Amino acid sequence: MKGIVFTEFLTLVEERFSLAMVDQIIEAAQLESGGGYTAVGTYPVEEMVRLLQQLSARCGIAIPTLLQIFGRYLLGRFVLSHPRFFAEQRSTLDFLAAVEEHIHVEVRKLYPDAELPRFHCERPDRSTMTMTYRSPRGLADLAQGLIEGCAAHYQETVHIAREDLSDGHGTHVRFTLSIVAMNSGQAP
Ligand code: HEM
Repeated sequence: MKGIVFTEFLTLVEERFSLAMVDQIIEAAQLESGGGYTAVGTYPVEEMVRLLQQLSARCGIAIPTLLQIFGRYLLGRFVLSHPRFFAEQRSTLDFLAAVEEHIHVEVRKLYPDAELPRFHCERPDRSTMTMTYRSPRGLADLAQGLIEGCAAHYQETVHIAREDLSDGHGTHVRFTLSIVAMNSGQAP
């Protein structure tokens, strides 16, 4: 997993909790890397799992919820670091439909060793889309938070139904997204 994900996560922990919490979870997680992450480095995804376990044990928030909170935060950070991607699309569903074939393709050019999920989207009509997530890392909760962050960015209300197709492992999950309210900038 790219270091940028770790550095953003630890920044979130510092902002929402404290720098002391960052130090405590790094210490308790007994990380091989020692926790000195750099944005361009690559680290085992297990280190993220261990940090989440330590944070969850201390703050009492379940890991899936922490991942969703992190996903919403991370999306806001991507808006700041990659504004062009967001300017190119007019709505939540247009943006999400572009993740697999455009956005993550560009991400791979920036970080050739990125471990990215696969998404398959189907859009039966303008206001509905199924987005099927697949990844051996099982970070569907992070994906859900990122989806929620997109909806917040485009100021749309999106209903998210979620179906785990991997016996609860979060490695193969179908999200059915329905736009409940569009932003006012779009044509009807
Ligand atoms: C500008 C927008 C985006 C950028 C720049 C971006 C970039 C990245 C980067 C750098 C990683 C880390 C890869 C690694 O750890 O090696 C990643 C992973 C991931 N991205 Fe994106 N991403 C964007 C949008 C999205 C959106 C909207 C979604 C969800 C619908 C998404 C879903 C994921 C997930 C779930 C992972 C974790 C890896 C996995 O599940 O296997 N991304 N992305």
